[in-house]
Amino acid sequence: MILLRAENIAHSFDFDYPLFKNVRLEIKAGESLAIQGVSGSGKSTLLHILSSFLKPEKGVAEALGRDIYALKPSEFIKLRRETIGLIFQQHYLFRGFTARENLQVAALLRGSEIDEELLERLSIAHILQQDAMSLSGGQQQRLSIARALTKKPKLLFADEPTGNLDRQTASEVMNVLFDYTKRNQGAFFLVTHDEALAKKADRRYRLENGALIEQ
Ligand SMILES: Nc1ncnc2c1ncn2[C@@H]1O[C@H](COP(=O)(O)OP(=O)(O)O)[C@@H](O)[C@H]1O
Ligand SMILES: [Mg+2]
Repeated sequence: MILLRAENIAHSFDFDYPLFKNVRLEIKAGESLAIQGVSGSGKSTLLHILSSFLKPEKGVAEALGRDIYALKPSEFIKLRRETIGLIFQQHYLFRGFTARENLQVAALLRGSEIDEELLERLSIAHILQQDAMSLSGGQQQRLSIARALTKKPKLLFADEPTGNLDRQTASEVMNVLFDYTKRNQGAFFLVTHDEALAKKADRRYRLENGALIEQ
């Protein structure tokens, strides 16, 4: 089953210069896909298009078989709230809340449970009573990943997610995301410049000179 699909997508911010065009890709249930490319090649832009945050100039972006930008407003909101999980390098934790409260908000919105085993794997089980803002950068990053997964999203998007983490921690955290994808038969769209990390994905692509090329 295809969970995420791009068909002939093109986008430009500049009038006479397309950032990329004819972008096609598919991610099936249980699959992860890594996108590499130099800074400015359009990786984040493609991620925004496929994760419902930017309507492409041309082409179709489909999530769970539906054209994202043709959805009714109520369905569009449901897609964002329930289906899409986002992980960025800079995290948007709720200020003035403890780590656990940050997770509880996500669980409440989705009607899901906090996965205690996941917290152990991310090595944050012992810091849940602390104010989220008092945590180290790496702990905040792992908390934001836990919060994204607490929503149980079918589609997971990560944009350079390991920037704040040392190599060993980055590898452990990424294994959590790859395992989550397999176990939940989700789809994982990963943007990274880290070659070793990209190689862990089922398939690798490179955005180069406006084209998406399979590696
Ligand atoms: N909202 C925007 N408005 C204008 N230009 C943008 C916008 N977002 C990105 N760009 C430009 O598009 C290009 C690709 O950006 P981006 O997708 O962030 O690349 P990457 O993630 O590969 O570094 C850059 O030249 C950037 O300045
Ligand atoms: Mg980027």
